[in-house]
Amino acid sequence: MRLYLAPMAEISTAAFREICYRNGADVCYSEMISAKAVMFNNKKTIKMAMVRPEEPRTFVQIFGSDPDDIAGAIRRIEELCPPYGFDINMGCPMKKVIKGRNGAFLMTDPDKVRRIVRAARAATKKPLSVKIRKGYIHENGSEVAAIIEEEGADLLVIHPRLKTQMFLPGTCDPDFSIRLAAERKIPVIHSGDVTGPKDLERFADSRVAGVMIGRGTFGRPWIFDEIRHGVAKNAEERKAIMKLHFNAIRIYSRQLSEKAMMSEIKKNAVWYSRVRRCRRVPQPCLSDRMGRI
Ligand SMILES: Cc1cc2nc3c(=O)[nH]c(=O)nc-3n(C[C@H](O)[C@H](O)[C@H](O)COP(=O)(O)O)c2cc1C
Repeated sequence: MRLYLAPMAEISTAAFREICYRNGADVCYSEMISAKAVMFNNKKTIKMAMVRPEEPRTFVQIFGSDPDDIAGAIRRIEELCPPYGFDINMGCPMKKVIKGRNGAFLMTDPDKVRRIVRAARAATKKPLSVKIRKGYIHENGSEVAAIIEEEGADLLVIHPRLKTQMFLPGTCDPDFSIRLAAERKIPVIHSGDVTGPKDLERFADSRVAGVMIGRGTFGRPWIFDEIRHGVAKNAEERKAIMKLHFNAIRIYSRQLSEKAMMSEIKKNAVWYSRVRRCRRVPQPCLSDRMGRI
């Protein structure tokens, strides 16, 4: 089963992706990139969308609500610095994103979903993935997934919570991912509440092709190797990985700004220092962090 790093705003940066690849991630998704901002040639957004050629399998995630903007952004990014593939965000529940009718809001309009995937498919021959939720208020993930497959996407990522369930503990529904994978021909990847090898067991006899890890990577980018090999890193190894990570942040995030670099180092330092005391998914800070997206 393939292991994916989840797209996470302000977290799945070039530096973090490098560290996750070094520690066993098969595929990484980028932070979400605004299609409109790419079309307006926003320098910071364009830099965020640039994937180094050494990254083996990185999907750049685009969000937007206009099929032409999304197709245009894909073409533009591909011209400048082609990534392995593109993903379209149809799952983000945050106010700022929903207000612009982007992210999970798209699930309320299956016809718009069709037009977006069709336009994206026409814009690129590279692998095309779409990340959805179980539904917005009502469960329609199955219907939306069928449209996405019909329009030629190569991969489907499902975070099996409704938009209204945001990230609430106890609401993730892995059985929904299992059912969806059984219904679809294209590979289906489960995203939600994977924090260790035990969480993969329920997918063993299913058609789920991979799992995506988000919050479980905070301060633990070695989680991919731990899941794959069942061996925990020792304190020395963890320290070495943390140093490499901070070095990568210095190299890559400085290209955005000093402020972005410092904020990324601080955030990760807090997570690394918490890990030894608590190996659970760090829920308490989530609402603060999500609020800034
Ligand atoms: C801080 C944060 C930022 C996120 N940003 C994005 C994003 O940009 N695009 C996206 O599709 N999902 C985003 N997500 C959702 C994750 O990709 C993932 O689907 C969700 O967190 C559930 O997985 P987990 O339980 O492994 O964290 C974000 C989640 C978190 C916690």
